[in-house]
Amino acid sequence: MNAFSDLLQQDGPFTKEQLTAMIGATGAHQTLLHQKANELAVKHCGNEVFLRGLIEFSNKCRKDCYYCGIRKSNRHTKRYDLADETILQTALYAHENNLGSIVLQAGERNDPLFVDRMDALLQAIKKATNGELGITLSLGEQSRDTYQRWFNSGAHRYLLRIETSHRDLYRQLHPDDERHDFEARIEALRAIKETGYQTGSGIMIGLPGQRVDHLADDLLFLKEMDVDMVGMGPYIVHEQTPLADQADGLWPLSQRFSMSLNMIAALRLLMPDINIAASTALQAIDPMGREKALKTGANIIMPNITPASNRKDYLLYDNKPCTDESADDCLSCLNMRIALTGRKAGLKAWGDSPHYFKKNNNNTAQSK
Ligand code: 5AD
Ligand code: FES
Repeated sequence: MNAFSDLLQQDGPFTKEQLTAMIGATGAHQTLLHQKANELAVKHCGNEVFLRGLIEFSNKCRKDCYYCGIRKSNRHTKRYDLADETILQTALYAHENNLGSIVLQAGERNDPLFVDRMDALLQAIKKATNGELGITLSLGEQSRDTYQRWFNSGAHRYLLRIETSHRDLYRQLHPDDERHDFEARIEALRAIKETGYQTGSGIMIGLPGQRVDHLADDLLFLKEMDVDMVGMGPYIVHEQTPLADQADGLWPLSQRFSMSLNMIAALRLLMPDINIAASTALQAIDPMGREKALKTGANIIMPNITPASNRKDYLLYDNKPCTDESADDCLSCLNMRIALTGRKAGLKAWGDSPHYFKKNNNNTAQSK
Protein backbone atom coordinates (compact mmCIF):
# COMPACT_ATOMS: atom_id res chain seq x y z
CA MET A 1 0.00 0.00 0.00
CA ASN A 2 2.73 2.44 1.02
CA ALA A 3 4.74 2.18 -2.16
CA PHE A 4 1.58 2.76 -4.20
CA SER A 5 0.41 5.77 -2.19
CA ASP A 6 3.93 7.22 -2.36
CA LEU A 7 3.77 6.83 -6.13
CA LEU A 8 0.53 8.82 -6.27
CA GLN A 9 2.15 11.69 -4.40
CA GLN A 10 4.80 12.10 -7.08
CA ASP A 11 4.51 14.77 -9.76
CA GLY A 12 5.77 12.46 -12.46
CA PRO A 13 7.20 11.80 -14.96
CA PHE A 14 6.04 8.23 -14.49
CA THR A 15 7.73 5.13 -15.88
CA LYS A 16 5.98 2.46 -17.92
CA GLU A 17 6.08 0.14 -14.89
CA GLN A 18 4.48 2.76 -12.64
CA LEU A 19 1.75 3.44 -15.18
CA THR A 20 1.14 -0.29 -15.58
CA ALA A 21 0.63 -0.54 -11.81
CA MET A 22 -1.92 2.30 -11.94
CA ILE A 23 -3.84 0.80 -14.89
CA GLY A 24 -4.10 -2.55 -13.11
CA ALA A 25 -5.04 -1.06 -9.72
CA THR A 26 -7.95 -2.67 -7.83
CA GLY A 27 -9.52 -2.33 -4.38
CA ALA A 28 -7.99 0.26 -2.02
CA HIS A 29 -5.26 1.18 -4.52
CA GLN A 30 -7.87 1.94 -7.15
CA THR A 31 -9.85 4.15 -4.76
CA LEU A 32 -6.72 6.13 -3.92
CA LEU A 33 -5.81 6.52 -7.59
CA HIS A 34 -9.29 7.78 -8.48
CA GLN A 35 -9.32 10.25 -5.57
CA LYS A 36 -5.96 11.67 -6.57
CA ALA A 37 -7.04 12.06 -10.21
CA ASN A 38 -10.25 13.82 -9.21
CA GLU A 39 -8.29 16.20 -7.00
CA LEU A 40 -5.87 17.04 -9.82
CA ALA A 41 -8.66 17.58 -12.38
CA VAL A 42 -10.37 20.14 -10.15
CA LYS A 43 -7.07 21.77 -9.21
CA HIS A 44 -5.80 22.20 -12.79
CA CYS A 45 -9.00 22.44 -14.85
CA GLY A 46 -11.51 23.80 -12.32
CA ASN A 47 -14.76 22.52 -10.88
CA GLU A 48 -16.64 23.02 -14.13
CA VAL A 49 -17.43 20.21 -16.55
CA PHE A 50 -17.39 21.57 -20.08
CA LEU A 51 -19.96 20.46 -22.60
CA ARG A 52 -19.54 19.82 -26.32
CA GLY A 53 -22.68 19.30 -28.37
CA LEU A 54 -21.89 16.28 -30.55
CA ILE A 55 -23.35 16.33 -34.08
CA GLU A 56 -22.80 13.03 -35.89
CA PHE A 57 -23.77 14.43 -39.25
CA SER A 58 -22.95 11.55 -41.58
CA ASN A 59 -22.06 7.85 -41.37
CA LYS A 60 -20.63 7.63 -44.89
CA CYS A 61 -17.05 6.45 -44.44
CA ARG A 62 -14.14 5.58 -46.75
CA LYS A 63 -12.44 3.52 -44.06
CA ASP A 64 -12.89 -0.11 -43.17
CA CYS A 65 -11.62 -0.44 -39.58
CA TYR A 66 -12.38 -3.97 -38.37
CA TYR A 67 -13.97 -2.79 -35.08
CA CYS A 68 -16.28 -0.06 -36.31
CA GLY A 69 -20.00 -0.46 -37.04
CA ILE A 70 -20.11 2.21 -39.76
CA ARG A 71 -17.14 0.83 -41.69
CA LYS A 72 -17.46 1.03 -45.45
CA SER A 73 -18.12 -2.70 -45.95
CA ASN A 74 -21.00 -2.92 -43.48
CA ARG A 75 -23.89 -3.32 -45.89
CA HIS A 76 -26.45 -3.37 -43.07
CA THR A 77 -25.86 0.27 -42.17
CA LYS A 78 -28.36 2.70 -43.63
CA ARG A 79 -26.19 5.57 -44.82
CA TYR A 80 -27.19 9.17 -44.15
CA ASP A 81 -25.74 12.62 -44.61
CA LEU A 82 -27.54 15.53 -42.97
CA ALA A 83 -28.34 18.56 -45.11
CA ASP A 84 -26.15 21.60 -44.44
CA GLU A 85 -29.20 23.53 -43.31
CA THR A 86 -29.99 20.83 -40.71
CA ILE A 87 -26.41 20.91 -39.42
CA LEU A 88 -26.54 24.69 -39.18
CA GLN A 89 -29.86 24.56 -37.31
CA THR A 90 -28.41 21.98 -34.90
CA ALA A 91 -25.41 24.25 -34.30
CA LEU A 92 -27.78 27.12 -33.61
CA TYR A 93 -29.68 24.91 -31.19
CA ALA A 94 -26.42 24.34 -29.31
CA HIS A 95 -25.69 28.04 -29.22
CA GLU A 96 -29.19 28.94 -28.01
CA ASN A 97 -28.95 26.34 -25.28
CA ASN A 98 -25.70 27.82 -23.99
CA LEU A 99 -23.43 25.03 -25.15
CA GLY A 100 -20.15 26.86 -25.70
CA SER A 101 -18.99 24.54 -28.44
CA ILE A 102 -19.87 21.70 -30.77
CA VAL A 103 -18.08 18.70 -32.23
CA LEU A 104 -18.75 17.96 -35.89
CA GLN A 105 -18.13 14.25 -36.35
CA ALA A 106 -18.69 12.00 -39.37
CA GLY A 107 -17.25 9.03 -41.18
CA GLU A 108 -14.06 9.87 -43.05
CA ARG A 109 -14.30 11.51 -46.49
CA ASN A 110 -11.70 13.57 -48.27
CA ASP A 111 -13.11 14.21 -51.74
CA PRO A 112 -12.89 17.84 -52.93
CA LEU A 113 -16.65 18.26 -52.78
CA PHE A 114 -16.69 17.33 -49.10
CA VAL A 115 -13.69 19.50 -48.25
CA ASP A 116 -15.30 22.56 -49.91
CA ARG A 117 -18.61 21.84 -48.30
CA MET A 118 -17.08 21.74 -44.81
CA ASP A 119 -15.27 24.97 -45.48
CA ALA A 120 -18.51 26.75 -46.36
CA LEU A 121 -20.36 25.13 -43.46
CA LEU A 122 -17.76 26.20 -40.90
CA GLN A 123 -17.95 29.78 -42.13
CA ALA A 124 -21.75 29.72 -42.04
CA ILE A 125 -21.82 28.42 -38.45
CA LYS A 126 -19.27 31.00 -37.32
CA LYS A 127 -21.22 33.79 -38.96
CA ALA A 128 -24.61 32.68 -37.62
CA THR A 129 -23.27 32.54 -34.04
CA ASN A 130 -21.22 35.77 -34.17
CA GLY A 131 -18.06 33.73 -33.83
CA GLU A 132 -19.20 32.67 -30.38
CA LEU A 133 -19.65 28.94 -30.87
CA GLY A 134 -16.42 26.93 -30.60
CA ILE A 135 -16.04 24.22 -33.24
CA THR A 136 -14.15 20.95 -32.87
CA LEU A 137 -13.77 18.66 -35.87
CA SER A 138 -13.59 14.88 -35.80
CA LEU A 139 -13.36 14.02 -39.49
CA GLY A 140 -10.39 11.70 -39.73
CA GLU A 141 -7.21 11.90 -41.77
CA GLN A 142 -6.91 14.80 -44.19
CA SER A 143 -4.13 16.59 -46.07
CA ARG A 144 -2.23 19.46 -44.46
CA ASP A 145 -3.91 21.78 -46.92
CA THR A 146 -7.38 20.66 -45.84
CA TYR A 147 -6.54 20.97 -42.13
CA GLN A 148 -5.31 24.51 -42.81
CA ARG A 149 -8.40 25.49 -44.81
CA TRP A 150 -10.79 24.26 -42.13
CA PHE A 151 -8.72 26.00 -39.46
CA ASN A 152 -8.87 29.26 -41.41
CA SER A 153 -12.64 28.83 -41.72
CA GLY A 154 -13.11 28.71 -37.96
CA ALA A 155 -12.47 25.23 -36.49
CA HIS A 156 -10.02 25.45 -33.61
CA ARG A 157 -9.90 21.95 -32.16
CA TYR A 158 -9.44 18.60 -33.92
CA LEU A 159 -9.85 15.06 -32.62
CA LEU A 160 -8.05 12.12 -34.21
CA ARG A 161 -7.71 9.04 -32.09
CA ILE A 162 -4.63 6.93 -32.72
CA GLU A 163 -6.83 3.97 -31.57
CA THR A 164 -3.71 2.10 -30.36
CA SER A 165 -0.13 3.35 -30.37
CA HIS A 166 1.13 -0.21 -30.87
CA ARG A 167 2.08 -0.59 -34.54
CA ASP A 168 1.47 -4.36 -34.80
CA LEU A 169 -1.83 -4.19 -32.97
CA TYR A 170 -2.91 -1.30 -35.24
CA ARG A 171 -2.15 -3.54 -38.23
CA GLN A 172 -4.34 -6.32 -36.81
CA LEU A 173 -7.28 -3.96 -36.36
CA HIS A 174 -7.18 -2.44 -39.85
CA PRO A 175 -6.88 -3.63 -43.45
CA ASP A 176 -3.28 -3.71 -44.68
CA ASP A 177 -3.45 -0.89 -47.22
CA GLU A 178 -2.42 2.73 -47.62
CA ARG A 179 -5.80 3.97 -46.38
CA HIS A 180 -5.17 2.46 -42.95
CA ASP A 181 -1.49 3.21 -42.52
CA PHE A 182 -0.20 3.68 -38.97
CA GLU A 183 2.58 6.10 -39.98
CA ALA A 184 0.13 8.17 -42.00
CA ARG A 185 -2.12 8.47 -38.98
CA ILE A 186 0.72 9.73 -36.81
CA GLU A 187 1.71 12.14 -39.56
CA ALA A 188 -1.91 13.41 -39.69
CA LEU A 189 -1.84 13.99 -35.94
CA ARG A 190 1.39 15.99 -36.31
CA ALA A 191 -0.13 18.01 -39.16
CA ILE A 192 -3.16 18.86 -37.00
CA LYS A 193 -0.87 20.08 -34.23
CA GLU A 194 1.36 22.07 -36.51
CA THR A 195 -1.64 23.78 -38.11
CA GLY A 196 -2.38 25.24 -34.70
CA TYR A 197 -5.43 23.26 -33.60
CA GLN A 198 -5.89 22.23 -30.01
CA THR A 199 -5.18 18.61 -30.70
CA GLY A 200 -7.02 15.63 -29.32
CA SER A 201 -6.28 11.94 -29.59
CA GLY A 202 -7.12 8.76 -27.77
CA ILE A 203 -7.35 5.00 -27.87
CA MET A 204 -9.70 2.09 -27.20
CA ILE A 205 -9.31 -0.09 -24.13
CA GLY A 206 -9.74 -3.87 -24.08
CA LEU A 207 -9.16 -4.60 -27.78
CA PRO A 208 -8.46 -8.20 -28.81
CA GLY A 209 -4.72 -8.81 -28.37
CA GLN A 210 -4.18 -5.70 -26.25
CA ARG A 211 -2.22 -6.03 -22.99
CA VAL A 212 -1.89 -3.76 -19.96
CA ASP A 213 1.65 -2.80 -20.94
CA HIS A 214 0.35 -1.70 -24.37
CA LEU A 215 -2.01 0.64 -22.53
CA ALA A 216 0.88 2.06 -20.51
CA ASP A 217 2.67 2.71 -23.82
CA ASP A 218 -0.48 4.43 -25.09
CA LEU A 219 -0.35 6.86 -22.16
CA LEU A 220 3.33 7.55 -22.82
CA PHE A 221 2.51 8.10 -26.50
CA LEU A 222 -0.13 10.73 -25.63
CA LYS A 223 2.38 12.42 -23.36
CA GLU A 224 5.09 12.30 -26.00
CA MET A 225 2.72 13.80 -28.61
CA ASP A 226 1.93 16.48 -26.04
CA VAL A 227 -1.79 16.43 -26.89
CA ASP A 228 -4.23 18.95 -25.42
CA MET A 229 -7.28 16.69 -25.21
CA VAL A 230 -7.96 12.97 -24.89
CA GLY A 231 -11.02 10.83 -25.47
CA MET A 232 -10.68 7.15 -24.71
CA GLY A 233 -13.06 4.42 -23.72
CA PRO A 234 -13.71 0.69 -23.69
CA TYR A 235 -13.82 -1.32 -26.90
CA ILE A 236 -17.31 -2.70 -27.39
CA VAL A 237 -18.10 -5.40 -29.93
CA HIS A 238 -20.28 -4.53 -32.90
CA GLU A 239 -21.78 -7.78 -34.17
CA GLN A 240 -21.64 -6.79 -37.85
CA THR A 241 -17.86 -6.27 -37.85
CA PRO A 242 -14.95 -8.67 -38.53
CA LEU A 243 -13.56 -8.16 -35.02
CA ALA A 244 -16.72 -9.68 -33.51
CA ASP A 245 -15.19 -13.07 -34.45
CA GLN A 246 -12.37 -12.46 -31.97
CA ALA A 247 -14.59 -11.82 -28.95
CA ASP A 248 -13.56 -15.01 -27.12
CA GLY A 249 -10.41 -13.84 -25.36
CA LEU A 250 -11.72 -10.36 -24.52
CA TRP A 251 -11.51 -8.98 -21.00
CA PRO A 252 -14.97 -9.12 -19.39
CA LEU A 253 -16.97 -5.88 -19.82
CA SER A 254 -16.59 -5.04 -16.13
CA GLN A 255 -12.81 -5.26 -16.45
CA ARG A 256 -12.73 -3.15 -19.62
CA PHE A 257 -14.79 -0.58 -17.75
CA SER A 258 -12.61 -0.59 -14.66
CA MET A 259 -9.41 -0.36 -16.74
CA SER A 260 -10.91 2.55 -18.69
CA LEU A 261 -11.46 4.50 -15.47
CA ASN A 262 -7.92 3.65 -14.35
CA MET A 263 -6.56 4.83 -17.71
CA ILE A 264 -8.36 8.16 -17.34
CA ALA A 265 -7.05 8.55 -13.80
CA ALA A 266 -3.47 7.59 -14.70
CA LEU A 267 -3.54 10.01 -17.63
CA ARG A 268 -4.71 12.79 -15.31
CA LEU A 269 -1.67 12.14 -13.12
CA LEU A 270 0.61 12.10 -16.16
CA MET A 271 -0.90 15.19 -17.86
CA PRO A 272 -2.71 17.18 -15.15
CA ASP A 273 -3.87 20.17 -17.24
CA ILE A 274 -5.32 18.57 -20.40
CA ASN A 275 -9.00 18.11 -21.23
CA ILE A 276 -10.15 14.52 -20.79
CA ALA A 277 -13.58 13.40 -22.03
CA ALA A 278 -15.91 11.03 -20.23
CA SER A 279 -16.54 8.89 -23.31
CA THR A 280 -20.00 7.73 -24.34
CA ALA A 281 -18.78 4.14 -24.69
CA LEU A 282 -18.42 3.99 -20.87
CA GLN A 283 -22.15 4.49 -20.62
CA ALA A 284 -22.78 1.56 -22.95
CA ILE A 285 -21.41 -0.67 -20.16
CA ASP A 286 -22.60 1.15 -17.03
CA PRO A 287 -25.59 3.54 -16.98
CA MET A 288 -23.55 5.80 -14.66
CA GLY A 289 -20.34 5.30 -16.62
CA ARG A 290 -19.75 8.89 -17.63
CA GLU A 291 -20.46 10.21 -14.12
CA LYS A 292 -17.94 7.77 -12.73
CA ALA A 293 -15.36 9.06 -15.22
CA LEU A 294 -16.07 12.63 -14.05
CA LYS A 295 -15.05 11.50 -10.59
CA THR A 296 -11.86 9.85 -11.76
CA GLY A 297 -10.19 12.65 -13.70
CA ALA A 298 -12.40 13.50 -16.70
CA ASN A 299 -13.66 17.07 -17.17
CA ILE A 300 -15.47 17.04 -20.53
CA ILE A 301 -18.77 15.52 -21.58
CA MET A 302 -20.27 15.41 -25.06
CA PRO A 303 -24.08 15.41 -25.11
CA ASN A 304 -25.39 14.00 -28.36
CA ILE A 305 -27.43 16.64 -30.20
CA THR A 306 -27.68 14.76 -33.50
CA PRO A 307 -31.31 14.90 -34.71
CA ALA A 308 -33.04 11.91 -33.12
CA SER A 309 -34.12 10.27 -36.40
CA ASN A 310 -30.49 9.63 -37.45
CA ARG A 311 -29.00 8.49 -34.17
CA LYS A 312 -29.70 4.80 -34.57
CA ASP A 313 -27.68 4.82 -37.82
CA TYR A 314 -24.49 6.09 -36.17
CA LEU A 315 -23.83 2.86 -34.34
CA LEU A 316 -20.07 2.50 -33.90
CA TYR A 317 -20.68 -0.31 -31.41
CA ASP A 318 -23.62 -2.28 -29.98
CA ASN A 319 -25.75 -0.95 -27.12
CA LYS A 320 -24.80 2.69 -27.84
CA PRO A 321 -26.70 4.91 -25.35
CA CYS A 322 -28.95 7.88 -26.11
CA THR A 323 -30.06 6.61 -29.50
CA ASP A 324 -33.77 6.99 -28.65
CA GLU A 325 -33.46 10.41 -27.05
CA SER A 326 -33.90 13.86 -28.57
CA ALA A 327 -31.38 16.68 -28.07
CA ASP A 328 -33.54 18.23 -25.33
CA ASP A 329 -33.69 14.93 -23.45
CA CYS A 330 -29.93 14.51 -23.64
CA LEU A 331 -29.25 18.02 -22.39
CA SER A 332 -31.55 17.97 -19.40
CA CYS A 333 -30.41 14.46 -18.56
CA LEU A 334 -26.79 15.56 -18.64
CA ASN A 335 -27.27 18.68 -16.56
CA MET A 336 -28.84 16.50 -13.91
CA ARG A 337 -26.06 13.95 -14.14
CA ILE A 338 -23.36 16.61 -13.75
CA ALA A 339 -25.15 18.07 -10.73
CA LEU A 340 -25.17 14.57 -9.20
CA THR A 341 -21.37 14.45 -9.33
CA GLY A 342 -21.15 17.70 -7.35
CA ARG A 343 -19.57 19.54 -10.27
CA LYS A 344 -20.97 22.44 -12.30
CA ALA A 345 -21.74 22.53 -16.03
CA GLY A 346 -19.57 25.15 -17.75
CA LEU A 347 -22.05 26.96 -19.97
CA LYS A 348 -21.37 29.54 -22.70
CA ALA A 349 -17.65 28.78 -22.54
CA TRP A 350 -15.34 27.09 -25.00
CA GLY A 351 -13.68 25.29 -22.11
CA ASP A 352 -10.29 25.13 -23.80
CA SER A 353 -7.54 22.96 -22.44
CA PRO A 354 -5.30 24.97 -20.05
CA HIS A 355 -2.43 22.88 -21.39
CA TYR A 356 -2.72 24.41 -24.87
CA PHE A 357 -2.40 27.95 -23.59
CA LYS A 358 0.47 27.24 -21.26
CA LYS A 359 2.30 25.55 -24.09
CA ASN A 360 1.70 28.38 -26.54
CA ASN A 361 2.37 31.11 -24.04
CA ASN A 362 -0.99 32.70 -24.77
CA ASN A 363 0.30 34.49 -27.83
CA THR A 364 -1.23 33.00 -30.92
CA ALA A 365 -4.14 31.14 -29.40
CA GLN A 366 -7.75 32.23 -29.54
CA SER A 367 -9.72 31.85 -26.35
CA LYS A 368 -13.08 32.67 -24.89
N1 5AD B 1 -16.01 0.24 -29.59
C1 5AD B 1 -15.61 1.37 -28.97
N2 5AD B 1 -15.23 2.48 -29.63
C2 5AD B 1 -15.28 2.45 -30.98
N3 5AD B 1 -14.95 3.38 -31.91
C3 5AD B 1 -15.16 2.87 -33.13
N4 5AD B 1 -15.62 1.60 -33.02
C4 5AD B 1 -15.68 1.32 -31.70
C5 5AD B 1 -16.07 0.17 -30.94
N5 5AD B 1 -16.48 -0.96 -31.54
C6 5AD B 1 -14.37 4.68 -31.56
C7 5AD B 1 -13.02 4.87 -32.27
C8 5AD B 1 -13.23 6.11 -33.10
C9 5AD B 1 -14.36 6.79 -32.37
C10 5AD B 1 -15.13 7.78 -33.19
O1 5AD B 1 -15.19 5.74 -31.97
O2 5AD B 1 -12.01 5.10 -31.29
O3 5AD B 1 -12.08 6.93 -33.20
FE1 FES C 1 -12.88 3.67 -38.77
FE2 FES C 1 -15.36 4.09 -38.29
S1 FES C 1 -14.56 2.88 -39.96
S2 FES C 1 -13.70 4.60 -36.97
